[in-house]
Amino acid sequence: MLRGKSILLGVSGGIAVYKAAELVRLLVKKGASVHVVMTANAQQFVTPLTFQVLSNNTVGIDLFSVESESRISHIQKARLPDLVLLAPATANLMAKMAAGIADDYLTTILLATTAPVLICPAMNVKMWEHPATQRNLRILGELGHQVQPPAVGSLACQEEGAGRLAELGDILERAVRILTPPTLGGRRVLVSAGPTWESFDPVRFLSNPSSGKMGYALAKIAARRCAQVYLVSGPCFLEAPAGVEQICVTSALDMRDAILRLSPQLDAIVMAAAVSDYRPSQKLPQKLKKVAKELTVLLEPNPDILAALGEVKPATQVLVGFAAETEDLLKNAKDKLVRKNLDFIVANDLSRKGAGFCCDTNEVTIIERNGAVIDLAPMTKEDVASEIWDRVERLLAGVKN
Ligand code: CTP
Repeated sequence: MLRGKSILLGVSGGIAVYKAAELVRLLVKKGASVHVVMTANAQQFVTPLTFQVLSNNTVGIDLFSVESESRISHIQKARLPDLVLLAPATANLMAKMAAGIADDYLTTILLATTAPVLICPAMNVKMWEHPATQRNLRILGELGHQVQPPAVGSLACQEEGAGRLAELGDILERAVRILTPPTLGGRRVLVSAGPTWESFDPVRFLSNPSSGKMGYALAKIAARRCAQVYLVSGPCFLEAPAGVEQICVTSALDMRDAILRLSPQLDAIVMAAAVSDYRPSQKLPQKLKKVAKELTVLLEPNPDILAALGEVKPATQVLVGFAAETEDLLKNAKDKLVRKNLDFIVANDLSRKGAGFCCDTNEVTIIERNGAVIDLAPMTKEDVASEIWDRVERLLAGVKN
């Protein structure tokens, strides 16, 4: 997601500077070209050489360095990046920015850049809570800067509270979001994810091994593209992506109710959940004791949520299903596409290695309404999600398939 992007990482002086070194490594791994600028105080914690080696670019440290200014001036450096990331941002750096002070290399660049700025503060909890810091934070927001708030926990100064540099994964995701075009802006979409649990007594249920990873990846990519995202999730123990409205359900009946309540107002629905087709006809009020020699559990069919959505689908709504198959992939998937009145279906061959339940990767075939069959190469579930949303976007824009 960061391939070809230029990121200027401003590092100011706090103990969290050591985490910024790892952040550079992660940004570079994601394909970004990273230029680091350090304040004098930051250099007290970690040397510029560390950042130079990790970023593979010279590190800006001195506004008045004849050598580096002749190669690339601070003004040129301010023009270069697609994003300026400040991690860690100290209370002092934030105060200077709020006041428009430019008295060193980093603050001079900050005043000259027109790139979006993401501030990731890290400091002692009392410094963070101080009215002056909170005032500066408000001013920085008014100036159009974005802030990834510090995490809460134990701090290097032996205190507890807000002030730890945000998790690097959260900083990366926020950076990716800022740099992703908002192609689903103004759209309301719903993704279902995970399995459903169908109880037959208070402590036992029928289910399947769905991890929810495909649905959560779909929600994350839609949120990156600025959609308003509802994630209706069966029990699956994954953290909801930031900015997504997660609605937790347990059974297929709960899932149906949650989805049908929202469906009329949605621009697109992607049913990635592995809904149990059957539920026990009876749910016993107490735990079933191990007395019977043989046990038969009577099942009755659950409603087909996707088919119900297909029946009432507004003309402008895009409806996408998955087909989990172990045989006759194309035939079965095409049949579901037509039977459930879908715009396209994503067919999953569960017998393939690296596809389906629990994996981080998937290998799917997309079948469109016009009969087109597109085999996608094996890829991460996030990449599969991007392919799906690309198609949804085209359909929303009125390009028929
Ligand atoms: N689905 C649903 N409600 C159900 C069962 C499935 O909404 N009760 C949705 C799934 O979320 C998926 C699609 O229908 O998007 C196809 O699910 P799948 O399990 O592949 O097929 P089924 O319709 O259940 O048919 P079968 O089990 O016979 O393959």
